[in-house]
Amino acid sequence: MTPGDRMMASALGSWTRLAPFAGLDPAAFEAEELWRREDPGQVRIVLRMRGGAGQDLVFKRVFQPQDRGRWAEALDGQRRAVRALMRDPVHVPPAILAEDAETLSTVQDFVPGRTLQDHMLLRFDKPGARAQVLQRAGRFLAAFHGATAEGDKPFNPATMLDYIRALGRRALSGDLTLADPDLFAVLAEGLEAAAQTAAGQPVRVAAQHGDLHARNLIVSGKRATLIDFAQDRSAPVQYDMARLIVDLGARFSGDAAPEATCGLPAADLAALSDGYGRDLSQDACLAFLCRCRVLQDWAALPAVASQRSAFQQERLLQLQKTATRLAAA
Ligand SMILES: Nc1ncnc2c1ncn2[C@@H]1O[C@H](COP(=O)(O)OP(=O)(O)OP(=O)(O)O)[C@@H](O)[C@H]1O
Ligand SMILES: [Mg+2]
Repeated sequence: MTPGDRMMASALGSWTRLAPFAGLDPAAFEAEELWRREDPGQVRIVLRMRGGAGQDLVFKRVFQPQDRGRWAEALDGQRRAVRALMRDPVHVPPAILAEDAETLSTVQDFVPGRTLQDHMLLRFDKPGARAQVLQRAGRFLAAFHGATAEGDKPFNPATMLDYIRALGRRALSGDLTLADPDLFAVLAEGLEAAAQTAAGQPVRVAAQHGDLHARNLIVSGKRATLIDFAQDRSAPVQYDMARLIVDLGARFSGDAAPEATCGLPAADLAALSDGYGRDLSQDACLAFLCRCRVLQDWAALPAVASQRSAFQQERLLQLQKTATRLAAA
């Protein structure tokens, strides 16, 4: 048996034990592998389970990391979003039907559609055609933030700024080695001014997904929702948005003219803004947090080229492109 087969076999074993807790007969389902990840410290498998009676479910088992606290918190985050959006079938995330903290396994509803990343890839050369799908994503975010909003407060950039400053200090002292340290420094330099502009701006605090990239948003027709929650916390809404916008900007900008504040093509940010109901190009907190996000992602990559995986190499090239655009803005 290959390691891959073993992963499938042990996932199916935990499905067989867990399904009855959701009132399901495990033998009445056919499994199809949707996704697996096998990176150092990150191992999981996602199966689509189709039942004879028309049930369409997802079974996910996390093998690594074995962090029960984090795993349970993420499920709480998903349940909070489900409760908040219960009366909004267009945006409600998938319900969790059963869970097993021993094997870090869950059974949840299958969400039909494609990930936002797949939609973007399909429209790679057609920036205009991306508007509709980005509007839907923006509409989802407006619903998610609206349903979980806890009020407004003045933005305080200190925590993020301290964090990035500490990265800079560690780089200077030789404790942290960065890829392309010169470009990193140029982008980091502009951060203080961006922080000053953002400080004190009113921001809305709402539920934070915690890992909002374009593979965790699923869009189909008018329906758009989030999967794979990472936590159960609240934060200014710009944190999740910056994660999404940097992810989109780095992957899908091509040669399109960049929007000045966050490196995304202007038309893409306009579509997202349109869906969200607010002009995000004027959001100083978002601009600041997008810069922070690029620097954070950058610092997490191995400095030496030979130690970077193909994926990490590609990621660095994307971040360098985004940094160049942001530094020129
Ligand atoms: N409930 C669901 N409905 C439909 N598709 C799903 C569902 N859950 C997961 N998927 C599919 O499986 C993929 C991986 O799932 P998920 O994001 O939970 O895994 P992950 O390994 O934790 O991802 P990440 O890369 O964000 O760490 C998703 O991008 C999506 O295509
Ligand atoms: Mg995911």
